[in-house]
Amino acid sequence: MQITPNNAGLGARVEGIDLARPLSPEDFRTVLRALGQYGVLCFPGQDLDAAAVSAFGARFGELEVNVANLFHAPGHPEVMHLSNMKDAAGKPIGLSDAGQGWHTDMSYSKEIALANVLHAKRVPRRNGKAVGCTQFRNMHAAYDDLPAEVKQRIEGRSAIHDFAKFWDMMRIRPGSIRGPLTPEQRAKKPPVPQPMVRVHPITGRKVLYCNSGYAMFVEGMDRAESDALLDYLFRHQAQEKYFYEHEWNEGDVLMWDNIGTLHNAVADYGPDEPRFILRVQVMASLDYAALAA
Ligand code: SIN
Repeated sequence: MQITPNNAGLGARVEGIDLARPLSPEDFRTVLRALGQYGVLCFPGQDLDAAAVSAFGARFGELEVNVANLFHAPGHPEVMHLSNMKDAAGKPIGLSDAGQGWHTDMSYSKEIALANVLHAKRVPRRNGKAVGCTQFRNMHAAYDDLPAEVKQRIEGRSAIHDFAKFWDMMRIRPGSIRGPLTPEQRAKKPPVPQPMVRVHPITGRKVLYCNSGYAMFVEGMDRAESDALLDYLFRHQAQEKYFYEHEWNEGDVLMWDNIGTLHNAVADYGPDEPRFILRVQVMASLDYAALAA
């Protein structure tokens, strides 16, 4: 396996490994460490079916079955279809999360996610250039750069994260196929407190764990003060120096650290520019410090 870091301070290319085959314990540890170190790993030229995507993801933790799991691979409810494509009857075959803004998946859940694993089957291109890129921001670096006074203010503090904030924002977009959350779906995802600073389970370093997609307010803080603090943090983490954009190719498996990064799926492609991606969400259900040691 060869790991080549990008110049962006985030992201690396991992070659010389076939993810359709079971990972050896040594390769597992190498990938886990690289995930913590580089945040976003691209394994180009892979050819996996839903079962293989699921098996690779499941090495790193339990796989989530999404509360609003509208589209998934046959026989694999844990493997979501992300797509803007339609079947012969004109029905959507996937859910598209593009245009959602910056967020961290599952920060609205008591149990948080370690990683996302996506495998691109169809990538939209315009004039030879990929569209529908996925963008990332480095929350290890964003935390490190915070002024000492701000680090002190957020240490030990929690923000309330709410799944409905993002869902309702997506629902009102033109062409959205999302309905209102049912009372059952809502009951499964009540707002939850999340520490604003987390010790990353792989790197052991502190990260800024707060995103504009789901965080509503700082628990126990006056609302105006909370709004000002969140606004400051969201502007701080939006700086160019933390940014990396992944331009997809068919066959890419992209695995990203969902604790140490934020992401945003760019909605710059149309309904006639097909995109199709298999996706699993890996929950942070294992002792990664021990596994990476
Ligand atoms: C995701 O948030 O898992 C989807 C990202 C993408 O579609 O690029």
